[in-house]
Amino acid sequence: MLCGQRAGFDVKRYAHIVGWGKYAPQKVLTNDELSQGVDTSDEWIRTRTGICERRIASEQETTASMSIAAAREALRVADADPARIDLIIVGTITPEHLFPSTACLVQDALGARQAAAFDLSAGCSGFVYGLSIASHAIEAGAYKLALVIGAETLSRIIDWTDRRTCVLFGDGAGAVLLQASEHPGGVLSSVLGADGSGGDLLILPGGGSRFPPTPESVTNGLHYLHMDGRRVYRFATKIMARATHQALAKASLSPQDLALLIPHQANQRIIDSAARALKLEKDQVFVNLDRYGNTSSASIPIALCEAVEAGQVKQGDALVLVGFGAGLTWAAAAVRWSVPLPVTAPPRWRVVTRWTRYRWTAIRRRILNAFWWLAEWLLSLRPERKD
Ligand code: ACO
Repeated sequence: MLCGQRAGFDVKRYAHIVGWGKYAPQKVLTNDELSQGVDTSDEWIRTRTGICERRIASEQETTASMSIAAAREALRVADADPARIDLIIVGTITPEHLFPSTACLVQDALGARQAAAFDLSAGCSGFVYGLSIASHAIEAGAYKLALVIGAETLSRIIDWTDRRTCVLFGDGAGAVLLQASEHPGGVLSSVLGADGSGGDLLILPGGGSRFPPTPESVTNGLHYLHMDGRRVYRFATKIMARATHQALAKASLSPQDLALLIPHQANQRIIDSAARALKLEKDQVFVNLDRYGNTSSASIPIALCEAVEAGQVKQGDALVLVGFGAGLTWAAAAVRWSVPLPVTAPPRWRVVTRWTRYRWTAIRRRILNAFWWLAEWLLSLRPERKD
């Protein structure tokens, strides 16, 4: 027997989506409500973008809290043990902090003690970038279970007086759990791209090393998202169909094989233009942009969850997830859906076990913090040495 065979290296592995979950804040902000604070109208927003309303995070809701909620839902659907997760990737442009990564906060909250965790910044392509990296790691045999999250609190970086941007964005999170399997299917192919020459077209200038926070940076609005909408639009209409074609070709599929396209939800006109170029019927393209607006990295996983909930995904279907965004970046992934739907509810005791793990991990964090506080206090009581 060859060494590779003994180690199982000759066994081809596939990364299957086995769990999915989403979280959307309760607060709904309609176009009419927006038009009371800024010079716009429901008619303009609907006809130019397709957006009717978006969700806005409350003070308590953050990128980490929404990621955790979406991830727990994905683990519940898959009936998976968080302790077995090997990798957590959070695609986001609105992380909880610059560091530590939001992924590490998620790792702790889930009690995923074995998992490597990092954030990924690729604008609205972040989720598909993460899906591609995680699926390649699984195919290479490095990991068996990987959690990929897209989460954003864009409302915190929006200038609510700028009508060119504030009408477009919303908050939310979506997650999928990928599992290694020897059965063909799951993530079949992915295509990632970047063109940094367009970096200025969609940018949050302040808060990094170029423009650290100062009173001037705040006054000059450098901590708000800035966008050249027309140029991003032109880029998006070209890249969505091209990336979809490339991902399908890499998976030896054609647009005719496609059961459902799940595009980044930025603008109905961009989605329609991609659908026309791919010659897709209306029911082959999933849209929920009207209710969420553009949630950046979260938009594709939220749309995937809603497509599943709406019965628009069936076992054996070929899907393409495709996005574009800040960077500029683009990403597409072809997926063969392998889970029979609807999924059966996990046994109650497994739900309780997971809940106990989440509670325990929160208690453990408090105990550790208390321990460090106590240790520092005891050290402070030591008499000072007089050498
Ligand atoms: N209400 C009313 N009028 C408005 C508004 C508004 N909310 N916003 C802009 N206008 C005005 C403009 O001032 C302009 O007026 P002017 O001609 O007198 O100057 C007019 O409407 C037309 O403006 P355009 O920018 O040409 O409008 P357009 O049809 O291009 O639509 C939009 C703007 C919706 C932003 C579009 O360009 C777009 O969707 N671009 C892509 C944006 C995108 O997808 N971003 C996602 C990036 S993903 C990520 O990584 C975060």
